[in-house]
Amino acid sequence: MHKVKQRTILLTGGAGFIGFHTAKKLLERGDSLIIVDNFNDYYDPELKRARAKILTSKYDAVEFEEVDIADYKALENIFKNEKIDKVCHLAAQAGVRYSLEHPFAYERTNITGTLNLLELCRHYGVKDFIYASSSSVYGNNKKLPFSEADRVDTPISLYAASKKSNEEMAYTYHHLFGLNCTGLRFFTVYGPWSRPDMALFLFTKAILQGKAINVFNNGEMARDFTYIDDIVSGVIASIDKSYSYEIFNLARGESIKLMDYIAEIEKNLGKEAKKNMMPIQPGDVPKTSADISHAREKLGYDPQTSVPTGVKNFIQWYKRYYNA
Ligand SMILES: NC(=O)c1ccc[n+]([C@@H]2O[C@H](COP(=O)([O-])OP(=O)(O)OC[C@H]3O[C@@H](n4cnc5c(N)ncnc54)[C@H](O)[C@@H]3O)[C@@H](O)[C@H]2O)c1
Repeated sequence: MHKVKQRTILLTGGAGFIGFHTAKKLLERGDSLIIVDNFNDYYDPELKRARAKILTSKYDAVEFEEVDIADYKALENIFKNEKIDKVCHLAAQAGVRYSLEHPFAYERTNITGTLNLLELCRHYGVKDFIYASSSSVYGNNKKLPFSEADRVDTPISLYAASKKSNEEMAYTYHHLFGLNCTGLRFFTVYGPWSRPDMALFLFTKAILQGKAINVFNNGEMARDFTYIDDIVSGVIASIDKSYSYEIFNLARGESIKLMDYIAEIEKNLGKEAKKNMMPIQPGDVPKTSADISHAREKLGYDPQTSVPTGVKNFIQWYKRYYNA
């Protein structure tokens, strides 16, 4: 027999980087969580297991369901057995470059998986659906900073196309079935426990090992790097607000040049990087920069962490975790 809890959030991707930090914050403040994650090996599953262990060893109000969101029946069993108030959907096949070689992974998790969740929200009376989109939906948008009012009809990777599709699917379920949907366009998120396929992690690892780093577009890149705690504050505000239909940029609101970001890593490691200067990669955009006024106004979103502080925190974590 399952105990019916007062307020339960179903969080997908809770063993992932952003999901883990979001789960921790929700549990700290007393929410009950059911986390759905399939612990796949897109990157080291041990890192996912370590995140999950922190959550389950510290908090009682969390349970993990090792389920693939593309498996409708398995997912439906969870909705049948639990009273779910809100769904926070952060599971995805992430990564722009990987999508060039593995398009069907994006179809399976990002399209089918998201559709399964929307259908189950519809049939099991869930009121709120908060989900991760991405800055990549802006494609090669020439107008900076990117604003939610800009057209986003030209995704330049299948990852971006899958995230744009998610926004449209959410709109349809909002329109047809009254599901409250909030989509969050995250901009290059970084911080402790981050994904091993992302620049900060790759660069830190390579520099410490004395290996060269790949610097794309000959360093002529810039990103609105966003610290994980700021992202989590925006996700949680979205969960609490229950807006009927919204899309928000969640970013720091400041574009940093890639070479300055690398210099910050070098400074913290006390070591200069060997750099392979490379052309831009297909699917990559040279610059991202976000207008975050909409999130400021409607979510009270107010990012606090600068790149120097954020990079320092990541490197402290990395050295401790990997004994480097
Ligand atoms: N990290 C960023 O900079 C960034 C930027 C923009 C958008 N996003 C989006 O934010 C969300 C979280 O990203 P992240 O960086 O934490 O990635 P992550 O890969 O660390 O987390 C995703 C989690 O989802 C799980 N997952 C993947 N496919 C699944 C499936 N079929 N069934 C069940 N679980 C599955 C993975 O095991 C993983 O634990 C994703 O939707 C991603 O697309 C991230």
